[in-house]
Amino acid sequence: AFDISNLRDQTGYVTLDRGYKNTGATKSAITFLDGEQGILQYRGYSIEELAAKASFLEVAYLLIYGELPTQEQYATFETAIRRHTLVNEDMRKIFDGFPVSAHPMSVLSSLVSAMSAFYPDAQDEKGSEDRHIIRLIAKLPTIATWSYKRSLGHPTNYPKNNLDYISNFLNMMFALPVEEYKVDPVVAEALNVLLILHADHEQNCSTSTVRLVGSSQANLYSSISAGISALWGPLHGGANQEVIEMLEAIKADGGDVSKYVDMAKNAKTTGFRLFGFGHRVYKNFDPRAKIIKKAADDVLSKLGVNDPVLEIAKGLEEAALNDDYFVQRKLYPNVDFYSGIIYRALGIPTNMFTVMFAIGRLPGWIAQWKEMRETKEPIGRPRQIYTGATLREFVPIEKR
Ligand code: ACO
Repeated sequence: AFDISNLRDQTGYVTLDRGYKNTGATKSAITFLDGEQGILQYRGYSIEELAAKASFLEVAYLLIYGELPTQEQYATFETAIRRHTLVNEDMRKIFDGFPVSAHPMSVLSSLVSAMSAFYPDAQDEKGSEDRHIIRLIAKLPTIATWSYKRSLGHPTNYPKNNLDYISNFLNMMFALPVEEYKVDPVVAEALNVLLILHADHEQNCSTSTVRLVGSSQANLYSSISAGISALWGPLHGGANQEVIEMLEAIKADGGDVSKYVDMAKNAKTTGFRLFGFGHRVYKNFDPRAKIIKKAADDVLSKLGVNDPVLEIAKGLEEAALNDDYFVQRKLYPNVDFYSGIIYRALGIPTNMFTVMFAIGRLPGWIAQWKEMRETKEPIGRPRQIYTGATLREFVPIEKR
């Protein structure tokens, strides 16, 4: 890699790289990704091993603090999170002002942004950072479940501090007032794996957004809220919702996958892309997609769920991978292609898929924000090449 940062000041040159396809924005010690080989590691640990052996909060600790926690460190971290799961009752008033039909991602980004009003020390008090990190990780699932409960017309559930992170989330999502809710270990384990696989992915769109906003020294809540907004887009985390909607549409249309492959091949004229296919960095396979595809099979069979959409997804993958258009452009299923099928099997509704992604990605955003602060990165401020009008004279409105 060639570092141009000093050269530019000397020469006046600006490099143009739309979409930052080949521009490094930072040095980072958090996540290693090799797109050619399909390798993903958090702090040097392979994603495959972490998904098989770790808990999501262990991975969160690893990403944020750089090392796997000792038992004692883990107990302190986990207990602190359990004790901060309640959300200020006044935040409910903001939540109640949203229309029932509001997309849960818009509610999530707004309420996370609102947290900076409830915890104003995040803006200026040095040394309070760990408290805000704990608050965010603890409260995000609580806020997330409010949207789902209200969409059903149900009362929301308060968090229960006797439950672990994932069980607590599932309880707030699915417990009903009159029945005792028992967490299915298959469901909890599947969710654990999915959250770990989403936990960081170096300088993707939402993470770069968090870093860019944070580089102005905006507080953690504001920076994460911006990341949630960036994640929502259908070309990024919003793709997981789009995938299921696409698979449903194919099913309703008779299940002919080749028709959709043909449409995607003519993306330039049809405007249709296969959601869940392609990646800016992975040009061989997405290692997360490999794990998720296998997990989808396992989870559906363990839960006894027969989802015809899984067969359509497999058929679509096979048809695309045998097609020159996709082979030449190195387009493979990405993390979003099979994740929605698992979320569905767990009972999570489609409009909550990207929220699940946000809960998973939160530790990565936090770790990247923290690293950026610690390495004292300068404010992010890209340059441009101006293509507008040259100097002209102002014409009064009555003469235009
Ligand atoms: N379906 C059909 N064609 C595609 C697809 C697709 N899903 N993805 C890329 N292409 C084609 C493009 O049309 C382009 O073709 P061309 O060379 O003839 O012009 C070529 O492949 C390269 O695509 P770009 O858009 O230039 O690649 P880029 O790196 O900018 O985009 C992206 C990557 C956004 C992920 C893209 O592949 C895409 O839109 N995929 C669908 C949305 C999706 O699944 N997003 C989730 C990504 S993973 C994540 O964010 C968690």
